[in-house]
Amino acid sequence: MVFHKSVSLLSKLRSRAVQQPGLRNSVRWLQVQTSSDVDLHSQLKELIPEQQERLKKLKSEHGKVQLGNITVDMVLGGMRGMTGLLWETSLLDPEEGIRFRGLSIPECQKLLPAAKPDGEPLPEGLLWLLLTGKVPTKEQVDALSKELRNRATVPDHVYKTIDALPVTAHPMTQFATGVMALQVQSEFQKAYEKGIHKSKYWEPTYEDSLSLIAQLPIVASYVYRRIYKNGQVIPMDHSLDYGGNFAHMLGFDNPSMLELMRLYVTIHSDHEGGNVSAHTGHLVASALSDPYLSFAAALNGLAGPLHGLANQEVLLWIKSVVEECGENVSEEHLKDYVWKTLNSGKVVPGFGHGVLRKTDPRYTCQREFALKHLPDDPLFKLVSNLYQVVPPILLELGKVKNPWPNVDAHSGVLLNHYGLTEARYYTVLFGVSRAIGICAQLIWDRALGLPLERPKSVTMEWLENYCKKAA
Ligand SMILES: CC(C)(COP(=O)(O)OP(=O)(O)OC[C@H]1O[C@@H](n2cnc3c(N)ncnc32)[C@H](O)[C@@H]1OP(=O)(O)O)[C@@H](O)C(=O)NCCC(=O)NCCS
Repeated sequence: MVFHKSVSLLSKLRSRAVQQPGLRNSVRWLQVQTSSDVDLHSQLKELIPEQQERLKKLKSEHGKVQLGNITVDMVLGGMRGMTGLLWETSLLDPEEGIRFRGLSIPECQKLLPAAKPDGEPLPEGLLWLLLTGKVPTKEQVDALSKELRNRATVPDHVYKTIDALPVTAHPMTQFATGVMALQVQSEFQKAYEKGIHKSKYWEPTYEDSLSLIAQLPIVASYVYRRIYKNGQVIPMDHSLDYGGNFAHMLGFDNPSMLELMRLYVTIHSDHEGGNVSAHTGHLVASALSDPYLSFAAALNGLAGPLHGLANQEVLLWIKSVVEECGENVSEEHLKDYVWKTLNSGKVVPGFGHGVLRKTDPRYTCQREFALKHLPDDPLFKLVSNLYQVVPPILLELGKVKNPWPNVDAHSGVLLNHYGLTEARYYTVLFGVSRAIGICAQLIWDRALGLPLERPKSVTMEWLENYCKKAA
């Protein structure tokens, strides 16, 4: 039944894709899995030669085609709007939001296997989709869940390394330190030292990536329990999937919280290649650094308040609103508080985006989750009110390109509702999820033999001279 629903939805998608050129490219090789093979590695091995040929053809036939002009504004403006990266796993449309291998978030919610009927997608299914471009069957997802559980052993020295930090260290510092400690087991590093042929690089990268993804919830939950629960660690439940287990190891067994974690890990995984964490991971990996080194670097970018730390900032900010104005704050008071934040030289966390120009669909699906599971939560009501109040104020500033809420505007109140109230920890959850997108692309970086990243930089003097000559 679910399979038939998937096939008909995919055929609708394909016919829409024929009418929309952008979409046509992204769903070019999207298919429902027809193979009964449940081994992700062998599926990937089959796909790689075809994609290598595709890249070779693109380079030889269209290598000199221009993609646009680079302006001084772009160089000074953080490379906004400058197309400069190949990122296969997802594509971000400023108006429509993210598509994972051509599928929007609502489409992923419909098509990817879930833990229960009409449940949220399993992140393992998304990993399969990102890696293969194909919607997996439930059997394939179950096999991948099992494989991840089998890889989920963390060496003792990792815990000792984390324990060497003060318990007051930021959770992201402890998490990134744990990832660096995991690196000593890198298969890629060992294979490179033994002189592996470059055509085989993707294989140990795949091994490292899957092990890293499998181990992250254990390291992340260790950090959580160490800081907030007196170090009482909860072991993995071998009957649970990836997202469910993560919630369980953190200490949350409410079935709705398990569903939230599946949704959370799915939607935070990938947001094309130019955002700070994805780009950092990709850049560092381009030096042939292994997945552990590359992902640890990505995490350090995610820990910045303009990027992943914004989810922490949002909940702290919302709590400061409640502290100052109460839970049933009037619209007028809320407006005053927003202005007070702006006038003190701060940003309103959870609003705005470097690429998006509409409400983030990751916000929308979390809002739908809240409407279904916690419609009467007072902080959810406050978040809903902010959705009305903040955008007109940001528009009034006259400089904000996107006044609408982003993914971080919502996640905190959902987690808070189920008892995960420690906002400083939130970015770690984002980090666990982001590994799925970064590692999936990294495996393709190696399979496609993408080169060292090395853009040209210039000085202000160089730009001034160039502009004088161009005038
Ligand atoms: C996400 C973000 C960093 C994007 O930055 P950007 O691409 O430079 O955004 P813009 O081009 O719209 O910025 C133009 C101006 O508007 C300001 N602006 C953007 N979003 C704003 C917000 N939410 N609150 C206040 N000011 C904001 C910028 O700080 C910038 O001001 P400046 O010219 O004085 O430096 C920015 O919107 C922001 O700081 N948002 C809040 C933090 C957040 O939610 N981050 C998570 C992102 S997923």
